[in-house]
Amino acid sequence: MYEHNNPFLIGNFAPWREEGDETDLLVEGEIPPDLNGSLYRIGPNPYFPPRGRYHWFDGDGMVHAITIRERRASYRNRYVKTEGLAEEMKAGKALYGGLINPSSEAKGPMPFKNAANTNIIGYANRLLALYEAGLPHELQPVTLETIGTFNFCGRLNGPMTAHPKIDPGTGELLFFGYQPFPPFVTYHRASAVGELIESRPIDTGLPVMMHDFVVTRDHVVFFVCPSVFRIENLSKGLPMIAWEPQHGTRIGVMKRGGGEICWFDSEACFIFHFLNGYEDGNRVIIDACRSTSIDMSGNNFGPNPPVPHRFTIDLSSGDVNLEQTDERSAEFPRINERFAGLRHRYGYFASGPVFQNGKNFFRNTIKLDYQTARSEVQELGAGMFPTEPVFAQRPGRSGETDGYILTVWYDEAKNTSEVTIQDAANFSAMPQARVKLSHRIPFGFHGNWVQENL
Ligand SMILES: [Fe+2]
Repeated sequence: MYEHNNPFLIGNFAPWREEGDETDLLVEGEIPPDLNGSLYRIGPNPYFPPRGRYHWFDGDGMVHAITIRERRASYRNRYVKTEGLAEEMKAGKALYGGLINPSSEAKGPMPFKNAANTNIIGYANRLLALYEAGLPHELQPVTLETIGTFNFCGRLNGPMTAHPKIDPGTGELLFFGYQPFPPFVTYHRASAVGELIESRPIDTGLPVMMHDFVVTRDHVVFFVCPSVFRIENLSKGLPMIAWEPQHGTRIGVMKRGGGEICWFDSEACFIFHFLNGYEDGNRVIIDACRSTSIDMSGNNFGPNPPVPHRFTIDLSSGDVNLEQTDERSAEFPRINERFAGLRHRYGYFASGPVFQNGKNFFRNTIKLDYQTARSEVQELGAGMFPTEPVFAQRPGRSGETDGYILTVWYDEAKNTSEVTIQDAANFSAMPQARVKLSHRIPFGFHGNWVQENL
């Protein structure tokens, strides 16, 4: 059954199923000579017509790599060949259900696949495709061939968030995994070379969906938003993740070196993504894209789009101050990762109407200056829809705006995509280069720039 009216299967949300390679892409403008590496992006791309009602989070992961070397660009895209997808390819049809209708005709115990569709990172000389309900998949960085699941030499035996943080000082990877049964959350720390060093259960009290977390120089912060697993809802035809605002949002702050977790209370909200967090004396400052509710029915993202907010947590008094930092809806927040966990001045977001009947997505990208409260906008005109703006650092430079913003845009009129390269220090100027693809890249989730030495 193909749902022709499902908003996540039409327009530029529809899958692009062809795997291919393109060299010497058409470039308008000039690619900067110090930009050499690959922009990897990943998103859901169902290989077969879905079994039952499709949710955007269900589709099989497809990786798109735009590789830049000596001012020239090439492109390659491949499916992540997960075990679940391999089973389905053998059967010639979808065997697994998804978030709305977990079910399976396959042999394994799971009612859905590890779709490997959410984020893709370079870590410990590996390229990893991430999915929060399962293990990472390792890919060959040039061919994009799937090597298999990566489990830290057998030490990780639970799921791993798609939003781990790399400490810019030590190169350590900090992450968590969550599940609907105790321990609901487990915190993990791995070395820069891929050894799992620490795993610690976190008692959140509620089985919630937790997509992202915050790491500062000294603390790890978990937001327990009231998006609660109610597995029993499935038998009533309701989403298994229920919105229960009566619980409020609880914020757990833990010292990175160990010790008790301290809990703070805030109004009920849902947060998919955090921009960053840092310490200011005895306060923890956290910037996030905050919604007042969430709708997991799969139709859209709910009536309340995410808006940038700042949480200031006073560790002495226990007060949590909440401040709206922009009036526009904005998501997919990114910083220069050299400032991860440290005081940042700038944040980059995709902004504008978030979702309209599968046709549109974001309208522009914005750069917020938290010091002056000013902002800059990048727009490419009507019919051009951006995705997450990714920061690529300039080699050998350490300033917060020493880098380029790389964004994949969808050109509705041509039904193709392009990648823009902008100077992060001059955000509202026209892009320095526009790299044109011969086909579209479906609106996906996340990506990262990996310098050519991976
Ligand atoms: Fe995400």
